Amino acid sequence: MILAANFKMNHTRATTKEYLAKLKECEKPEGLELFVFPPFTALDRYESVATIGAQNAYGAESGSFTGEIGLQQLQEFGITTLILGHSERRHLMGESQELISRKFKFYKERGFTIFYCIGETLDIREKGDIQSYLQSQLEGIDLKYEGLIVAYEPVWAIGTGRTAKEEEIEEVLGFLSTLTPRPLLYGGSVKPENVQNIMRIPNCSGALVGTASWRVESFCEMIEKIKEL
Ligand code: 13P
Repeated sequence: MILAANFKMNHTRATTKEYLAKLKECEKPEGLELFVFPPFTALDRYESVATIGAQNAYGAESGSFTGEIGLQQLQEFGITTLILGHSERRHLMGESQELISRKFKFYKERGFTIFYCIGETLDIREKGDIQSYLQSQLEGIDLKYEGLIVAYEPVWAIGTGRTAKEEEIEEVLGFLSTLTPRPLLYGGSVKPENVQNIMRIPNCSGALVGTASWRVESFCEMIEKIKEL
């Protein structure tokens, strides 16, 4: 099982260090893999129970790409794990499927573990054609890639406190499992109160957590809950 903390634009270098130090004290069950995705400025070579990853990266080694980081910057800290296609990058920063799939290809060729995010908007859910929308977000993505982890994060459930219903998650993960043999995660208002039920959903290999992961106490609480399963 996988439990991942996406800090988004939260935490500094100093507080990330404190967070990871406290995380060490939190007892992790065997078989649970932890990941932490701090902001770029807090990337470093930490000694941690969690694998440290980047929330995004441009698909080039280095070059004239103002405001981006690439392979060279990640390699400095031994980072080989990335989130790509997060809905905030797709919808707030306007990243296209074409751009995301190019980044995917670049980091796949370099053996990165890629947390690849997809998820429908409320509008699409209400219209009902969720599957073809999700499929369009998988265009150009090698679904057999051994470093791939797919995170299903419905946009309407992110940062809203509104978790998708278990049946809704189960249905989508069931569909995704017909497309890829790789692990499937759920993300969207996961918290200590619902993490157990989410982890029990068929085809669910873990959770990608935003808000409830930002306090280390709350992230540890989720680890505790998973331990009880
Ligand atoms: P929240 O847990 O804040 O809903 O965010 C989910 C998410 O976007 C993780 O990548």
